[in-house]
Amino acid sequence: MMKKRVLLLYDPGENVIALLKKKLPKNLELVIPKTFKTDELKELIKEADFAIGARLKEEMLDIAHNLKVVQVPWVGVEWLPLKSIQEKRPDLIVCNTHANAGTIAEHAIALLFSAAKKIVIADRNMRHGEWGSLANPLISERVEGKNMLFLGFGHVAQKIAAFLWGFNLKYYVIKRHPEKLDPQWAEKILYIGGRDALAEFLEKADFIMIALPLTPETKGMIGKAEFEQMKETAILVNVGRGPVVDEEALFEALLYNKIQAAALDVWYQYPPWRRDRPRLGYPSHYPFSALDNIVMSPHRAYQIRDAMEVHWRDVLENLQRFSEDKPLINIVDIKRGY
Ligand SMILES: NC(=O)c1ccc[n+]([C@@H]2O[C@H](COP(=O)([O-])OP(=O)(O)OC[C@H]3O[C@@H](n4cnc5c(N)ncnc54)[C@H](OP(=O)(O)O)[C@@H]3O)[C@@H](O)[C@H]2O)c1
Repeated sequence: MMKKRVLLLYDPGENVIALLKKKLPKNLELVIPKTFKTDELKELIKEADFAIGARLKEEMLDIAHNLKVVQVPWVGVEWLPLKSIQEKRPDLIVCNTHANAGTIAEHAIALLFSAAKKIVIADRNMRHGEWGSLANPLISERVEGKNMLFLGFGHVAQKIAAFLWGFNLKYYVIKRHPEKLDPQWAEKILYIGGRDALAEFLEKADFIMIALPLTPETKGMIGKAEFEQMKETAILVNVGRGPVVDEEALFEALLYNKIQAAALDVWYQYPPWRRDRPRLGYPSHYPFSALDNIVMSPHRAYQIRDAMEVHWRDVLENLQRFSEDKPLINIVDIKRGY
């Protein structure tokens, strides 16, 4: 019997390829492009049944007649031509992975505490021998008992909320479907609402934790008006996607101290992906690096020592299920965009 073909749409590196080769069910064949260039992918996708990656170009949809599944090996699917998939290939199943939600949550918490406890500023100062004076010390923020607003309450945010539970924070949640909440959280969340509750919750929030996908609805959800609603002492953490927060509004809010601080793992412009050379480039049109009240992290929340085993768990699960014609996990709702 012909083996079903699993095409890599990008080069995930030799370790991942070795893992996929080792774990791939016997009735599947791994197709590894030589160049990963678009022309080659366009040839190979004609015969592919399952594709791994997000570099599925719009024109590939017309020729990918065998393709049944696109497996994005991370969470955000905004690189895919979602509108065209809806129009041309509504039967195509798109999956993502939530296997590393705990890892992302750990990084989000590290960012929150870095900003609240001024760890980066103190580190910078101390390298010059500066300890601060008793009259003018570097002041940290207490975390315990404060109001924490989650924008998005999916896999990542729920992990953050679980990890931080011992801090007796009061949890406020904004989600797209506030009526759909895992019952384990019903007693633990103080207030929950949809976007219409945003202004009210922002006024109360000491910490704003963003773990939202980038969709047409979430783009720019936090702009000038929203920064006006925040406390001057508010700390904003974004591990979702940069453009959920308006770039100029964020820069101005930090520059004019409309909020206390921000800590970001997700940005506005990215240098090209490089495997063997350092990636160089500024993350925004605005000089965020000139500000003291921001902690900057180059989209590395997922980069942990044992990343491969954690990160690829759901993808391997779906390959196994696909090989057995079983229902897949982490199916993305293309219309919603997450
Ligand atoms: N920094 C990194 O390395 C990294 C790694 C992983 C993920 N991420 C980012 O984090 C995002 C969240 O990941 P996740 O695994 O938690 O995703 P998820 O489980 O799909 O959760 C997404 C959450 O966002 C909410 N949401 C979506 N659209 C909304 C809207 N218009 N208004 C209000 N809430 C909205 C959803 O609400 P409902 O629950 O009501 O549907 C859900 O709670 C990803 O999409 C990705 O962009 C970043």
